[in-house]
Amino acid sequence: MAKPYYAPGSLSAAYYDLITDADVRLRGDEEIYADLVPSGGCVLELGAGTGRLTAGLAARGVRIVGVDISPAMLSQARTRAAALPEDVRGRIELVRGDMTALDLKRTFDLVMAPFFTLAHVPAGAAWKNTFAVVAKHMAPGALAAIHLPRLELMQRAPPPQPDLPVMDEPLPNGRRLRMFVKDRSFRPGINRLEQVIEYAVIEPSGQILQRSPERLTYYMTDPTPFAEAAGLEPDREPINIGDVGDIWVFRRV
Ligand SMILES: C[S@@+](CC[C@H](N)C(=O)[O-])C[C@H]1O[C@@H](n2cnc3c(N)ncnc32)[C@H](O)[C@@H]1O
Repeated sequence: MAKPYYAPGSLSAAYYDLITDADVRLRGDEEIYADLVPSGGCVLELGAGTGRLTAGLAARGVRIVGVDISPAMLSQARTRAAALPEDVRGRIELVRGDMTALDLKRTFDLVMAPFFTLAHVPAGAAWKNTFAVVAKHMAPGALAAIHLPRLELMQRAPPPQPDLPVMDEPLPNGRRLRMFVKDRSFRPGINRLEQVIEYAVIEPSGQILQRSPERLTYYMTDPTPFAEAAGLEPDREPINIGDVGDIWVFRRV
């Protein structure tokens, strides 16, 4: 039985940083978010995960609140923050919360939902609620940056080759982390891509030490009507990241 991505005990959470570092299609995203926030400004990050961007932006002088629903991801973010220089750590606040129903009772210069975070929830009421949360936390004139996958790539995703690793990365002690796509289906109408991803930790002998099948679901549609319904307007053309997704930027009017 596949567990949800980022669930407690999942390898997607345990090896998130290694998996993300290996993903060249994400390179340069921190720079893009940094350019959207005024110097010394404050940021709300929805889906902060292990704090990859949270820490990077705080190191650039930004004050940042990172929110995530997954305790397994947040505990890694806390470990990462604890190892940072005191001044950088002092600019980071980590909060467990659900982006579809959050009220921190304060506003920010930038609200961001990086690396497909919004795509984890269905593109209906959950997007409507998330955009209401985004707008509520934006100061007048503030920006929202929502990174979403490309729908056409989800629609055209090829059938999986379940025994062919799509990622194979070295681990300590000669072990390897391999990633397989065991199942994949796209449901038109609700624009849902559902995948069963299996991570396997392999011993140098080739023996499988640990295996973790996990369900990874993405939803996608044009976010503009949701943003506009929440009182936001498009600020610029979506910013391409690695030809697999775009950061959609909205402004609070
Ligand atoms: C792909 S990770 C992105 C982590 C980090 N921002 C980065 O760019 O590396 C997506 C994160 O969104 C979180 N997430 C999913 N649904 C959420 C929700 N409803 N509220 C808050 N966080 C959520 C997941 O737990 C996960 O940590």
